[in-house]
Amino acid sequence: MRTIAHISDLHFGRHNLDVMENLLASIEKSRPDLVVISGDFTQRARHVEFAEARRFLDRIAVPKLVTPGNHDVPLYNLFHRYLRPFRKYDRYIAPLDQPLGFFQDDGLAVLGLNTARRFTRKNGRLSQVQISSIRRIFASVPRGTTKIIVTHHPLAVPDSEDSLELAGRAIAALKAIADAGVHLLLSGHHHRALSGPVTEVSSAGSILIVHAGTAISTRTRGVGGNSYNLIQIAHGQISVRVMEWGKGQGFVEAGIASYAFDGNRWRAK
Ligand SMILES: [Fe+2]
Ligand SMILES: [Fe+2]
Repeated sequence: MRTIAHISDLHFGRHNLDVMENLLASIEKSRPDLVVISGDFTQRARHVEFAEARRFLDRIAVPKLVTPGNHDVPLYNLFHRYLRPFRKYDRYIAPLDQPLGFFQDDGLAVLGLNTARRFTRKNGRLSQVQISSIRRIFASVPRGTTKIIVTHHPLAVPDSEDSLELAGRAIAALKAIADAGVHLLLSGHHHRALSGPVTEVSSAGSILIVHAGTAISTRTRGVGGNSYNLIQIAHGQISVRVMEWGKGQGFVEAGIASYAFDGNRWRAK
């Protein structure tokens, strides 16, 4: 069995220190094999915010896979926004396209794709190059491996949910994702925890979609509180526990959804 702690939208600069300390304690207690952080590390992409995010990452002892969000691109410094949008992210968090963008062990293959863009401040998108890399990267992954893609902006919404704004080129990306046999998509951005299969992508099967809430920021947007996802993967079964901040109790399980894969489709159990 593998356990992934999926956290997102930390927004250092608009974060709650008490929630952050409890999050670190909760992650340590859960003993994940991997911590995935799906972007929006900062509120305004300031040095001080990135430095706090770096200190936070350094306190997580297990492997981490990270990808940036739209808030990690400078908004007001137009020079840096247009010419070097990921300069601070590269310096403080991880050089883009370096090892922290791909994780593989004998059960998991997890690819992070950057959807944040200098010109589209909010919505983000994938490039054609990134989309074609999906088939190539997963082609060499052994059978029996659970294949996962992490983006900040979601590429799909579960069938059971109302539509939400998706990353640009999501339709083309989903075709490549289905062709590559990717099982699971993790994302953030909307600050809402939800999960479920999406079937409209391919007549042959479905993909499991998991969105994370905001882990420690005060930007909870009135839909649930602070939360992160604890994802357990074993033999074609995936469970998604939403761990929600409860004042005085730390992060506690607020709900669990379980899914089984029949070789083509995910079904809620
Ligand atoms: Fe966010
Ligand atoms: Fe975002």
